[in-house]
Amino acid sequence: MAKEAKVQFICQECGYCSPKWLGKCPDCGGWNTFVEEISSLKPSSTSLDTPSTPIPITQIDSLKLPRLKTGLLELDRVLGGGLVPGSVVLIGGAPGIGKSTLTLQALFNLTKQGLNTLYVSGEESATQIKLRAERLHVEHPRLYLLTETALEHILSSIEKIDVQIVVIDSIQTMFTTALTSAPGSVSQVREVTGKLVRLAKNRNISIFIVGHVTKEGAIAGPRMLEHMVDTVLYFEGEKGHPHRILCAVKNRFGSTNEIGVFEMQEYGLVEVNNPSELFLAERPVNTSGSVIVPILEGSRPILIELQALTSPSFLAMPRRTSIGVDPYRLNLLVAILEKKVGLNLGQQDIFFNVAGGVKIEEPAADLGIVTAIASSFLNKPIPPQWVLLGEVGLTGEVRAITQAEIRLIEAEKMGFKQCIIPQSNLKHLKKTPLPTIGIHKIEKAFEVLF
Ligand code: TYD
Ligand code: MG
Repeated sequence: MAKEAKVQFICQECGYCSPKWLGKCPDCGGWNTFVEEISSLKPSSTSLDTPSTPIPITQIDSLKLPRLKTGLLELDRVLGGGLVPGSVVLIGGAPGIGKSTLTLQALFNLTKQGLNTLYVSGEESATQIKLRAERLHVEHPRLYLLTETALEHILSSIEKIDVQIVVIDSIQTMFTTALTSAPGSVSQVREVTGKLVRLAKNRNISIFIVGHVTKEGAIAGPRMLEHMVDTVLYFEGEKGHPHRILCAVKNRFGSTNEIGVFEMQEYGLVEVNNPSELFLAERPVNTSGSVIVPILEGSRPILIELQALTSPSFLAMPRRTSIGVDPYRLNLLVAILEKKVGLNLGQQDIFFNVAGGVKIEEPAADLGIVTAIASSFLNKPIPPQWVLLGEVGLTGEVRAITQAEIRLIEAEKMGFKQCIIPQSNLKHLKKTPLPTIGIHKIEKAFEVLF
């Protein structure tokens, strides 16, 4: 017997369902996130239409996964070496960052290799997309366009033309008639994604799903989307800056450490093959508070500028602002500076920034962070040809970092002349590409630098 549609309240942040409205979500802790949604009781994500049979693991082909090259090396790298047929990739990013541009360019490159591709837009009209395609020079007779928001119509279009790659732009505009809730609501987003994932697996079609991120920086309804798809990529960049960074937060087919760097130009996104050059282009020379560190993004070393600014505070609780580095790590390093080097930072506001909008998660940048802060506080510039590396421990010791050699090679390539690294790393290096000083303690770095 068919049950009636029921009203439920769903947290728009995490998808938690409640029979009544709640002010605070018991699952994710979000306030005022519950929205009333009417949905038919049985979402079809548990459909039984294509049963599969168990196969002995020994009989499964262990052929290497074939990969489709998107023609954008930076995108291929983040995907783990190319697009896997039948995979579902979610691309999240703020409006205007370039998601539509990126996916359209990738589709065109795939089309040129003889594949049929489909770009489904729920946001723009066919003419608008055509104008963009003209500007990007990405027109091709096998690149199909569909302006549609009803999933059922999209699925029947895919039945009609034999396509191998589909872009859904964006998931928040799509809806299925199986549910009565509005497009963009958690249940619609979840249900539509579920159906697309099944389509991808059954028909071996690769699907890019574009998702807008909310103010808090998460793709709407993020948790259930992230576990449903194979790969989750975020496309980020700062307003007013032309460069964009693509990074993976989940990847069933590769590492999540890789980043891809692009630059938005007049005729679309252009790959940046040498990010160090880009990130160092505007660096101030001989100014206090600026330090260069060779960080590792996946397998790739990139030289990044760290900037610190200290100024006397007029507040009872001086400000500690950090962009690109975990604020807890910053506080910890400031405490080490106070205790071990005797810098009196207690009454200083400290602002810290990683130039170019990059996020640093590895401790190898610690030594760079402490010296940038000290350089600003002491108003003494760090020599511009120097790079610094090392993890800083609570007793002020400088600890070994991973893959020192490739970082030093990158520094040498970019014209740096001197390097400070942990003594324990120096011991294991047979040959250093540039003059290198090994240190045990941060005090030693201060002796050398200031
Ligand atoms: P878009 O791909 O529409 O962003 P999203 O889909 O993430 O919302 O990109 C929008 C911005 O990119 C827009 O502000 C204009 C700029 N842009 C260029 O600078 N050059 C180009 O060739 C294109 C197509 C867009
Ligand atoms: Mg768009």
